Amino acid sequence: MITKTAFGQHASYDVTRIREDFPIFQEPVNGKSLVYLDNAATTQKPQAVLDAIMRFYTRECANIHRGVHYLSERATDSYETSRDKIRRFVNAASIQEIVFVRGATEAINLVAQSYGRTHVGPGDEVVISAMEHHSNIVPWQLLCEEKGARLRIVPMNRNGEFLVEPYVKLLNPKTRIVAVTNVSNSLGTINPVREIIRLAHERNVPVLVDGAQAIQHMRVDVQALDCDFFAFSGHKMYGPTGIGVLYGKERLLEAMPPYQGGGDMISSVTFEKTLYNRLPYKFEAGTPNVAGGIGLGAAVDYLQSIGMDNIFAHERDLVNYGTQALGALDELRIIGTAKEKASVLSFVLEGIHPHDIGTILDREGIAIRTGHHCTQPVMEFFEIPATARASLGLYNTREDIEALVAGLRKVKEVFR
Ligand SMILES: Cc1ncc(COP(=O)(O)O)c(C=O)c1O
Repeated sequence: MITKTAFGQHASYDVTRIREDFPIFQEPVNGKSLVYLDNAATTQKPQAVLDAIMRFYTRECANIHRGVHYLSERATDSYETSRDKIRRFVNAASIQEIVFVRGATEAINLVAQSYGRTHVGPGDEVVISAMEHHSNIVPWQLLCEEKGARLRIVPMNRNGEFLVEPYVKLLNPKTRIVAVTNVSNSLGTINPVREIIRLAHERNVPVLVDGAQAIQHMRVDVQALDCDFFAFSGHKMYGPTGIGVLYGKERLLEAMPPYQGGGDMISSVTFEKTLYNRLPYKFEAGTPNVAGGIGLGAAVDYLQSIGMDNIFAHERDLVNYGTQALGALDELRIIGTAKEKASVLSFVLEGIHPHDIGTILDREGIAIRTGHHCTQPVMEFFEIPATARASLGLYNTREDIEALVAGLRKVKEVFR
């Protein structure tokens, strides 16, 4: 049972114990203990994930799906078991709907190239929001350029909130797909994706959800959402780099042409004609990232051992605490003040460039991100070149936030 302490933290959420699962926290950084606040860029890896990768390479290394020998069967079994873990994690109806890709970027490109090129034509429209990561802008721009289609942008307000009314007005008989982020990586806004999907479906428009910043923070249920596609990256959810997932409804994936050609995605090849493999392998050409897939399965086990609702509650407490603590600093402005926010604290300090903030904090062992966070249109909207961004993960503590605030006081002293 979860009980609340006087400070609103969850007594049964043993963050000290959780931190022990991550070897990186034993590594000093610039002679200091690491305060890792760059989780939106990538997360640290628990020992269980490192062990799973090591186990594959030391005890079951083989190529998958093709071999009849012991190791190949074992590797295939581990990889496919991971796929099923991921299916259960997002509550997909079948493993046919779980396509392994390199990451969220590749998942979105797959949909833009395969679904997009078959369904979007001259004069058609693709709808995205004003707060998208470049990964959910550029693939659609490429598609629209090729097809003579038009990219339409749902605006946001000054808090960084998705505006539903203009969105509804943008939807029209020419709209072929909506692609929207679940959580903004530079603002932290949690978008009302369920409503966004419902409104699109009322007009028979499918929706891709970019889940790269949602999957590690909250419970995701693709059937409850009723999204058509959901994209995410392993490395942002405590898993390895170079692996991610595209969830797609079976009916849609079935009708889509392959994205890449090569081994494993075929059922037979002649020079006259190639027949494609069944789902999800039709979209998995070539030797996949086997170790990555297995490592991602271990990351899912790890997340589930803590519980997504517990993680959400812990991080929400930290976001609220951080918002208050940062808000108390003079000349600091938080960028992204949506009512519904997850795990991102983006800010600017009057007269100090974010890169200087990041460099000085680094000397204190504090890792944050500075720059445009691959969301240049968001920076343009707020008329700033960049922000400093502290982003939280399941192992962060209130002490981490206090270290950040102390570090920012030092930054201000240096620039006084
Ligand atoms: C919202 C969002 N979408 C997509 C991506 C792209 O993820 P990846 O680089 O892992 O493919 C990111 C990465 O930061 C992101 O934050």
